Amino acid sequence: MAAKEWKTFNASGKKRVVVTKELPGDRWLKILARAGCRVEYGTATRILKVGEIKSAIGDKCDGVIGQLTENWGKTLFSALKKAGGRAYSNYAVGYNNVDVDAATKLGIPVGNTPGVLTDTTAEMAVALTFSAARRVAEADVFMRAGQYEGWLPTLYLGELLKRKTVGVIGAGRIGAAYAKMMVEGFKMDFIYYDLYQNMGLEKYIREYSKFLKSQDEDPVKCTRAKTAEEVLKKADVVSLHPLLDPTTHHLMNARRLKMMKSNAILVNASRGPVIDEVALVAHCKKYPNFKVGLDVFEDEPKMKPGLNKCNNVVMVPHIASATDWTREGMAILAASNVAGVLTGRPSWTDQDDVIPFLGSKAPKACPSIVNAKELKLDSYKG
Ligand code: DGY
Repeated sequence: MAAKEWKTFNASGKKRVVVTKELPGDRWLKILARAGCRVEYGTATRILKVGEIKSAIGDKCDGVIGQLTENWGKTLFSALKKAGGRAYSNYAVGYNNVDVDAATKLGIPVGNTPGVLTDTTAEMAVALTFSAARRVAEADVFMRAGQYEGWLPTLYLGELLKRKTVGVIGAGRIGAAYAKMMVEGFKMDFIYYDLYQNMGLEKYIREYSKFLKSQDEDPVKCTRAKTAEEVLKKADVVSLHPLLDPTTHHLMNARRLKMMKSNAILVNASRGPVIDEVALVAHCKKYPNFKVGLDVFEDEPKMKPGLNKCNNVVMVPHIASATDWTREGMAILAASNVAGVLTGRPSWTDQDDVIPFLGSKAPKACPSIVNAKELKLDSYKG
């Protein structure tokens, strides 16, 4: 990457931190500067190659904030270690692009940015659900093409979701937030599959159901399915929120797609490879009433052939977390992770509650270090 594609902040800082992309807001820069860091950040919009990041790390680099589009494996962590590096944070909650074991072996703490993406991402999953159900993108293209000749009883018929069944695969933070929005907003029955029971979510839906009864309305059901297949067969909408790992790679393959109702809606705002995209294209062609909302793609930024021709798929370019508040929050958390490690701060223990880091009295800790236990980092005591 050409020198002109890098900018520097706080040039006199003694520690050198490389941030592979410019981040929103300016608080992240101030956090790093206060920790004595000179910050060098990349301004190129293209995805950086491993070799380019390696040269940016150079001979001396104390820490890095990297992106989910970069392959943070042994090569980069070894380069960082060799340059004296002691801290890495992904600018993302997901870290399937990071070989955490490789970093741990080299003694490098790895941070991520949980908590600030939860509702933002869930809201996008809801937006995709309804855009798909009500054919918003298709109708938008039709309008812009000047094809609207007047109201018709059969123009762009879609699906009514109220009182139907919403399914979630992976009921962690984001899956649970989506479930609450859909169940409460549209009085839908809920079915989910997750290796772990989400007791808090189940209680929430039970209480909501009681509230509905108190209003003389029909209750809603909450079911924990024994298998993902059960969710696929029963739900009218299925939103995918698992982590991407070898067990969830191509979780949605041709066989499982076929189990879904032919007019169901499938939403993915997790990671692209959770869906076999070639199988999805074939399924969408065969079942025109099947609808899909995608934020992520198997070979991002590319799409598998034919996906862009499927009118029953609405898609956005991995922007589920793209709000000012969230992206600035992610920058604050990533900077606090790196600054915290470099100034010897302990690690915060509750990754479900990192919001205090966004306030003016941020705790003196690293908000979220995923290998804190393995590296035996001190825990924050308050
Ligand atoms: C993440 O943080 O993992 C998201 O995919 C970014 O939108």
